[in-house]
Amino acid sequence: MRNGNLVSLKGISKIYNTGKVKVTALDEINLDFGRGEFIAIIGPSGSGKSTLMNIIGCLDTPSGGAYLLDGHSVAEMGIHQLAGIRNKKIGFIFQNFNLLPYATAYENVELPMIFAGLPGNHRKEKIMSNLAMVGLSDRADHKPTELSGGEMQRVAIARALANDPEVILADEPTGNLDSRSGDEIIRVFENLNEQGRSIITITHDMSIAKRCHRIIKIRDGIIESDTRNGNGVN
Ligand SMILES: Nc1ncnc2c1ncn2[C@@H]1O[C@H](COP(=O)(O)OP(=O)(O)O)[C@@H](O)[C@H]1O
Ligand SMILES: [Mg+2]
Repeated sequence: MRNGNLVSLKGISKIYNTGKVKVTALDEINLDFGRGEFIAIIGPSGSGKSTLMNIIGCLDTPSGGAYLLDGHSVAEMGIHQLAGIRNKKIGFIFQNFNLLPYATAYENVELPMIFAGLPGNHRKEKIMSNLAMVGLSDRADHKPTELSGGEMQRVAIARALANDPEVILADEPTGNLDSRSGDEIIRVFENLNEQGRSIITITHDMSIAKRCHRIIKIRDGIIESDTRNGNGVN
């Protein structure tokens, strides 16, 4: 059943059993994300932010609760359906960029398009348009070592856009960047959000969180607060 929300989490828990220690990383989280939202997830280190993000992105499975992605129950999806929906709907951005070191910006952006089966003649235009979207048209032939941190992260964003995802999930995307480069990333996010994409970003930086439209604060695996910014969505 589709309930209209892009993401709907009901009583989501995650318990890690490592040896003798049992860690409750998420404790019955309830959350709904609509379409086109621009959300910051904040909270101290170890509070469960990445665990939550990985579950939302279907990179990890919850220990309990129900997760509906675009109205579909993730637990009931087969592996192929899950891979398909993840590739189509979700783009990931990581703190460490995760670019292929020996590939150019162009090739890094191209890779997910090859995986998705996009024919060669359609790829070129899309790669260049994605690189243009992040302001890197003139860096297509550069390898990661020939780019600044902020530029590498923008290549990662162009790559995340390969299959036109509805939502971008970013886990501390500016964590390794100086504030000026971090600002470039947030401006790209703002543009993408204005075009209707949902953005969900984990951040330690309150100046970044304040530019998002909704701030969700997590502590010890529970949601401590969920507030909408005054300067948010019109
Ligand atoms: N793979 C894992 N195995 C065991 N414990 C984990 C694992 N991943 C995270 N944890 C624990 O779960 C809690 C939440 O971690 P995490 O979601 O990474 O927090 P955050 O991203 O907010 O720093 C922490 O106590 C962490 O040690
Ligand atoms: Mg984390």
